[in-house]
Amino acid sequence: MKIQVNARNRTHLFETEAGAGEKILHAGLMRGIALPYECASGTCGTCKARLVSGDISDAWPDAPGRKYLKAAGEFLMCQCSATTDVVAEVPAFVQLMETGSCVPLASKGCIVATQMLTHDVMTLDIESAEAIDFDAGQFMLVGVSEVEGMRGWSMVNFDRHARLLRFLVRRKPGGVLSDWLFADGSRTGAGVDLYGPLGHATFYPSLGKDLLCIAGGSGIAGMMSILARAEQDNYFERHDGNVFFGVRSMKDVYFLDEFTRLRAQCGNRLAVTVALSDEDPPDGLDDEYPLIRFERGFVHEVAARQMQQKLANVMAYLAGPPPAVDASIRMLLLSRVTADNIRYDKFS
Ligand SMILES: Cc1cc2nc3c(=O)[nH]c(=O)nc-3n(C[C@H](O)[C@H](O)[C@H](O)COP(=O)(O)OP(=O)(O)OC[C@H]3O[C@@H](n4cnc5c(N)ncnc54)[C@H](O)[C@@H]3O)c2cc1C
Ligand code: FES
Repeated sequence: MKIQVNARNRTHLFETEAGAGEKILHAGLMRGIALPYECASGTCGTCKARLVSGDISDAWPDAPGRKYLKAAGEFLMCQCSATTDVVAEVPAFVQLMETGSCVPLASKGCIVATQMLTHDVMTLDIESAEAIDFDAGQFMLVGVSEVEGMRGWSMVNFDRHARLLRFLVRRKPGGVLSDWLFADGSRTGAGVDLYGPLGHATFYPSLGKDLLCIAGGSGIAGMMSILARAEQDNYFERHDGNVFFGVRSMKDVYFLDEFTRLRAQCGNRLAVTVALSDEDPPDGLDDEYPLIRFERGFVHEVAARQMQQKLANVMAYLAGPPPAVDASIRMLLLSRVTADNIRYDKFS
């Protein structure tokens, strides 16, 4: 089937396989067309388009992102597939992806390992049937046959031509896929559908700026990928890095050994602070983890206190629950960090 997307700057044409149920967003991105999206999973509304002609099928008519659809015929490209030839209008400039971009692909994979890090957070290792090139800070959509729809999870690791993808998954109370994953019994061996990589909050060593990472909870996943890439390139010999990891209390903290290793390896230009919103850091922690700072407060407040006078040349990476990301964005804009120096993923 033929898809024509009329963007504000030009028209793009591509084809999808009839009857395959391929989402229009996925089909366009796979062909190197940089259609607009953010969550790629039905919540943010960024991928909205207007149907000019043809018929579509909506895989998730209750998607929360539909609240951003106002005009007649508008639909979410990340949830809808074409059932006939389609002409759609996108209210944005749409370019071709730059040469060298990591173009997403659909693949199959298998869960090869899981490890509990806290009572409600695990690492999840998935082996992909296809080698996947991704940029540090990107995410994949992951789906299983037992659950409707796919979920976005950020890669923790960084590797070229990666077959092994490591994710960090937090159990969401009442969440369907995380409940499936955390249910009694191991999911090792289960098959998964993969689509990606996706996401614009990417880091390249050519960036030439100090790094500021502010993560709420499992938002730390993509930051670990960014730190892994920076470490591989000895980035902190040339630039400062400040990582703020916000959790409620010590029972929610993980990766302390990995942060200690990174600090020891990367030197004093990398600083890591764990912000505890609900309790004071217990006594003795500084002796146990002398290379990590622990402070009481919401992660954006702790970052604001420590980063005064250090924001002149930063690229800020933010990820986690929407309230934590929004509070950090506000804090940075008020501190005169310009919007083009802020990259974020909201885990909604
Ligand atoms: C860019 C991005 C990166 C993320 N990275 C991480 C991460 O690294 N770690 C992490 O733990 N979480 C991450 N999340 C959140 C993650 O995608 C899930 O929301 C979370 O794991 C809860 O999933 P759940 O199935 O348990 O909850 P649910 O509430 O059941 O579902 C949550 C999400 O799944 C999708 N969904 C639900 N039902 C359907 C359906 N019928 N059809 C289609 N889609 C549906 C929607 O996007 C919904 O918001 C990220 C989210 C985004 C947008
Ligand atoms: S990209 Fe489709 S709703 Fe977010």
